[in-house]
Amino acid sequence: MGVFALFATFSFLLFVGLSDLVVAQDGGISGPTTSPAASGYQCDPNRCKLPSCNCASASPPGGLDPSEVPQFVVFTADDAIQSYTLDAINQLLAQRMNPNGCPIKMTYFTSISYTNYTLVTDWYVAGNEIADHTMTHVGSPPASEIDGNLIALNTLAGIPLSAIKGFRAPYLNYTNATFHLLADANFTYDSSVTSSIPVTDPDTDAYWPYTLDYGLANDCLTTPNICKGQPQIPGFWEIPMYAFFDDLGEDGPHLMDPWLDAADGDSTVNNTATLDYMKNTFTAHYNGNKQPIGLYTHPIHISLTYPGSDASTANINMINEFLDWVQEQRDVWIVSNEQLLAWVQNPVPISQLDSFDALKCKTPDVDSSVQICNGIPANEAGLLQECSFPDYPFFTCYGCPQSEPSPSNPNPPQQVATGQQARLRLPANCSTPFWDPIAGECLCTSTACQYTDQSLPIGPNGANLTGGNPSETYQSMPTLVLFNGVPGDFAVRASGISGLVSTLILGIVGAAAGRAVLNL
Ligand SMILES: *[C@@H]1O[C@H](CO)[C@@H](O)[C@H](O)[C@H]1NC(C)=O
Ligand SMILES: *[C@@H]1O[C@H](CO)[C@@H](O)[C@H](O)[C@H]1NC(C)=O
Ligand SMILES: *[C@@H]1O[C@H](CO)[C@@H](O)[C@H](O)[C@H]1NC(C)=O
Ligand SMILES: *[C@@H]1O[C@H](CO)[C@@H](O)[C@H](O)[C@H]1NC(C)=O
Ligand SMILES: *[C@@H]1O[C@H](CO)[C@@H](O)[C@H](O)[C@H]1NC(C)=O
Ligand SMILES: *[C@@H]1O[C@H](CO)[C@@H](O)[C@H](O)[C@H]1NC(C)=O
Ligand SMILES: *[C@@H]1O[C@H](CO)[C@@H](O)[C@H](O)[C@H]1NC(C)=O
Repeated sequence: MGVFALFATFSFLLFVGLSDLVVAQDGGISGPTTSPAASGYQCDPNRCKLPSCNCASASPPGGLDPSEVPQFVVFTADDAIQSYTLDAINQLLAQRMNPNGCPIKMTYFTSISYTNYTLVTDWYVAGNEIADHTMTHVGSPPASEIDGNLIALNTLAGIPLSAIKGFRAPYLNYTNATFHLLADANFTYDSSVTSSIPVTDPDTDAYWPYTLDYGLANDCLTTPNICKGQPQIPGFWEIPMYAFFDDLGEDGPHLMDPWLDAADGDSTVNNTATLDYMKNTFTAHYNGNKQPIGLYTHPIHISLTYPGSDASTANINMINEFLDWVQEQRDVWIVSNEQLLAWVQNPVPISQLDSFDALKCKTPDVDSSVQICNGIPANEAGLLQECSFPDYPFFTCYGCPQSEPSPSNPNPPQQVATGQQARLRLPANCSTPFWDPIAGECLCTSTACQYTDQSLPIGPNGANLTGGNPSETYQSMPTLVLFNGVPGDFAVRASGISGLVSTLILGIVGAAAGRAVLNL
């Protein structure tokens, strides 16, 4: 039976030294975490149909032949968002493009402790997915940790509630109850479970993302009260985390930050051996049923700008070499979880990807001379507020709170200096790049307006997609935020969570033109 050894780490602004972290494996497994007998999984594909139901299966969704299926590489990051962590991601992704010429989007499972809110806004407006990782990074989280994080990300980073669709449990430590809490808060998916058996094994648990209409089929040996039909949550998605396997096969799994692990039972990190097994696992997926591969990162470990960082440049170069090699294969897309899920819900063959909306890059048309605090660095320069709390000072567009947000009080009242006006938080009917929190105005009044599609016709994966040599390009690189935003989707959650937090609504603030906006 596989034993969980989970040592996920938390990113701190003032963490002292990283040497002890490099040996730790974050979110590790040491062997199979499920078996067909333990899962007792039964699902009838004739009754469970897309887009709202999908059985756990190693075969591609929609009955597509693997030859018609793109190879998705999911890129995720966990914990606090700081300049250091975005630097770490940028050194891997900033200069890459997908086959349609769009910048890469990724999923950031954000914990708000130690997070610099402005950078969350910028990262989201640039087109990345912001997801939930609890407020203070706790395993088996209570509702206040999960929902409080939504509220804080909405109020202080201006992320629409409807845009926060995914959750990952800190330490990958979840329970049956976690899934029910997520469903209650209208999350679309969880991504905390492990795929622990290689795709080449007939009993592989490398399932394509599936819904919980018939319960979970992963982690059945390691987590109590799941599997055999539990938890049954129709329409709620699980996106498994797919392990890499070294030469020891199923006894040598590597899940999160594989570049920090020693390979093949060795005691020291050997980048050559890591690169070998990462390529081998990719090839097994690519030549088989094309189940996604995932790079699940704690970016602080590979940040060179973090004070006192001892991140290894050789390690970072190895990851870039892997990504360069991956991008030389045909039909490979590096994506966020929400992009992957959009395709799984509506799986079109490779030949139709040109018109597939979720893979496009749409830029909000906001003139760079307009001064609004909207998550676009050129527009918001000079308008950010600095909130000086002792543990973690942060910046925001939306007004400093009187105290740090916490699970018991995720939306403290705003500090308003004498003679100043309160900032107005993002309303449910405006999209982040168009919202002016100072004037309380929405620059865009319809969902059809003001975005330009920058995608190109799909070409062969080029050779010029590398993240560059970090040692040369990195030191002078500011937090680079590439611009590939998408229109907000206003409908899904807005009303519900407002209900959840109704006790926290502070009142209606009248804006200049008599417009009433919730100061949430
Ligand atoms: C926080 O964000 C501000 C504004 O973007 C930036 O100037 C500062 O460097 C950031 N600090 C960290 C540690 O992220
Ligand atoms: C999971 O979280 C619970 C509650 O915080 C804790 O008691 C338990 O030890 C954790 N389990 C693991 C495997 O980390
Ligand atoms: C799973 O959790 C839900 C909600 O907390 C509870 O009602 C249900 O009984 C649990 N199921 C099992 C098998 O423990
Ligand atoms: C590192 O791994 C490679 C490939 O497995 C191997 O050839 C090499 O000997 C290893 N280096 C060390 C120092 O163990
Ligand atoms: C958005 O909602 C506010 C408050 O409900 C309303 O006053 C405003 O007209 C709405 N704006 C748009 C663009 O629909
Ligand atoms: C790669 O792209 C850069 C920037 O567009 C360009 O300067 C360079 O010549 C290109 N290199 C190759 C090998 O195409
Ligand atoms: C979840 O969605 C349902 C149906 O749209 C809605 O009635 C409910 O209020 C929502 N709950 C939350 C917490 O968003």
